[in-house]
Amino acid sequence: MSNKSLAKERDQLTILVTGGAGFIGSHTCVELLTRGYSVIIYDDLSNSSPVAVDRVRQITGASEAQLQFVQGSILDVPAMAAVFAGNEIDAIIHFAGFKAVGESVRKPLEYYHNNITGTLLLCQVARAHGVKNIVFSSSATVYGEPEFIPITEDCPKHDCTNPYGWTKSMLEQILSDLYVGDNEWNVVLLRYFNPIGAHVSGLIGEDPKGIPNNLVPYVAQVAVGKLEAVGVFGNDYPTPDGTGVRDYIHVVDLARGHVAALDWMGGKVGTGAAIGLGSVAGEPAADGSRRGVGIFNLGTGKGSSVLDVVAAFSKACGKDLPYVIKPRRAGDIAENYAACQKAADELGWVAEYDLARMCEDSWRWQSNNPNGYASE
Ligand code: WQD
Repeated sequence: MSNKSLAKERDQLTILVTGGAGFIGSHTCVELLTRGYSVIIYDDLSNSSPVAVDRVRQITGASEAQLQFVQGSILDVPAMAAVFAGNEIDAIIHFAGFKAVGESVRKPLEYYHNNITGTLLLCQVARAHGVKNIVFSSSATVYGEPEFIPITEDCPKHDCTNPYGWTKSMLEQILSDLYVGDNEWNVVLLRYFNPIGAHVSGLIGEDPKGIPNNLVPYVAQVAVGKLEAVGVFGNDYPTPDGTGVRDYIHVVDLARGHVAALDWMGGKVGTGAAIGLGSVAGEPAADGSRRGVGIFNLGTGKGSSVLDVVAAFSKACGKDLPYVIKPRRAGDIAENYAACQKAADELGWVAEYDLARMCEDSWRWQSNNPNGYASE
C-alpha cells in the first residue's frame, strides 16, 4: 500500500499532532504553523488545556482552516477514523501518551494500554487512510543508565526503570518494525533529553498537574511563591557539585527539531539515508522523500547540574531561591547528556538556546501564568 509523499511545499502539507495541546505539542504546533504547515491537534485533554490551543492560535494568527482542534483519545478508533476521513493528513507527530514516571509505576496497566494500544490503533487507522509518515516523541530514558556519555544514538538501550520509559522503548521497536514489514513506512524517533523553558511570548508553557515531579517546573513554582523551597535530590553523586546532571533543552529548540524531522522525511534537508535500529537503512524514494527509520537525539550536548539550574533560575527571576538537600530519588541516574552530531549532520538541526534563556522564558511564562492555564 502506498504512503503520502512529503516532497511538497510546507504550505501543501497537513500534520496531525496527537497530544498537540500539551507542553511540547503546543510549542511544536507554533513552529509548524509559522512555517506554513496546516495542523490538526488531536488531544484528549487528560493532561492539557484547550486554552493552550487558543494561545497557539493567538501567537500564530492561524485561521480555523490552518489550525483545527479535535478532542479525542488515541484509544477511540471511530474518532480518529473521522479525523483521517475528513482531512488530507500527510504525516503524524505523535506526542499523545501518559508521561508521569511515578504514576506509571502505580498504574502500569493504564500506561501500557493507553500508550501502547493507543499508538497501535493510531497506526492502524493511519495506514487504512494511506498515511505512513510518523514522528514519534521518544525519550533519552530509553538509554536507562547510559553505557557512555555523551550519549550517541548507537548507545545501547538499557532496561528502563519504570513503565512509562518501557512504553517509549517498546514503541520505538514497534514503529521500527512497521518499516521492516512495509518499506512504505517513514518513521523518525526523536529522543528528547530534558525539555524546559517556554515560548518567548509567555503565552504557552509547562503546566503540570499538582506538585511538579520535574525540576524546572518545581523551581518555577518556588520562584512564583507557590512552593517553599527546592528539594535537591542528593548532592553525593559523582558529578562536579554532587548534584544530578542533565541535558536541558529549550522546548522551542525541541519543537524546531520536529519540523526538521518532517523536512528530512520530505527529502528537503540533510544527507544520507535513514539509519534505524538493527542497521535498518532507508532509501530515498523516487521523489526524494525518505522511507525508513531515523533515530535522533535532541539535546544541547551540555550537562547542567541541579544547582546550576537553581542558580540560573535565581538570576532569571531576580531572587535567591531557597533549596534543601534531600536524599537521592529512587531511579535517578547521576549524569546524562546528548551527543547531537547526527541531528546536526542529517537534520541540519542544532539547539540554539542556553540555560539562561531557558530559565528566562520559563520565568516569564510562570510569572504571567502563576496557575498555568487554569488562570483563564
Ligand atoms: C532532573 C534532575 C533529579 C526534581 C524526567 C523523566 C524523563 C523525561 C524528562 C519524559 C535530576 C533532580 C528533580 C526535584 C531535584 N521525561 N530533581 N528535585 O528525571 O532527568 O527526566 O523528565 O520523557 O523520562 O524521567 O528530570 O526534572 O525529574 O530531574 O533535585 O524536585 O533534577 O534528581 O537529577 P529527569 P527531572
